[in-house]
Amino acid sequence: MIEKKKNRQQSLIPVFIIALVGCIIIFVANRLTSDQIDLNKHATAIEMIEAVMPLTYDNDLYNDRMDIAELSTTVYRARFNADNVGLVFMPVSTMGYKDTIKMAIGLSYEGVIIGVRIIEQHETVDLGDNIDQLNSDWINNFDNRSLDNTQDTAWAVTNDDGEFDQLSGATISPRNVINAVKNTLDFYEVNRDSLYN
Ligand SMILES: Cc1cc2nc3c(=O)[nH]c(=O)nc-3n(C[C@H](O)[C@H](O)[C@H](O)COP(=O)(O)O)c2cc1C
Repeated sequence: MIEKKKNRQQSLIPVFIIALVGCIIIFVANRLTSDQIDLNKHATAIEMIEAVMPLTYDNDLYNDRMDIAELSTTVYRARFNADNVGLVFMPVSTMGYKDTIKMAIGLSYEGVIIGVRIIEQHETVDLGDNIDQLNSDWINNFDNRSLDNTQDTAWAVTNDDGEFDQLSGATISPRNVINAVKNTLDFYEVNRDSLYN
């Protein structure tokens, strides 16, 4: 009887070993995949920052950053010879027609928009998705605008008597992007000094 039990236990050993090896393989594969995902996220973040911050800087911009709880975003500060050059807000999120839209916004120190890029959006193809630089050049409407050269009421699509191009049949997506960018500029104007410290 005891001998039988011992034999059964011994026959289970290969099963345990196979299960253990399987677990180790899955664990290692998971680690490698998540490392790769982190690397991809990092590369995408740097690509976006570079797209909206073409000004010259000599600091480690990606690591010179500060979280802004009030806007649920992070600012990346660009400096040259320790002078403030500008910064990038990323991600700036707003609700679109379908889902959240995430973007990166680059500002010069003076508060002029250097670039806005969509990082993520799920708007309708050929309607709201034209806010995305991959589908149209609508996003370039923001270039060189600031609170000084664009009046409060002009931060709207032409349908709403604003200065931003209309996307036909899709007012909601661009309207919400414009509001998010304007909101970021307002925040910058009030908090500029503390954002660089
Ligand atoms: C199937 C479907 C998808 C739509 N997708 C979008 C969209 O991605 N973005 C958007 O702003 N409006 C979208 N709309 C239109 C909105 O419902 C709304 O009518 C529109 O934003 C108002 O724009 P308008 O003032 O140019 O008519 C969609 C409508 C339908 C029926």
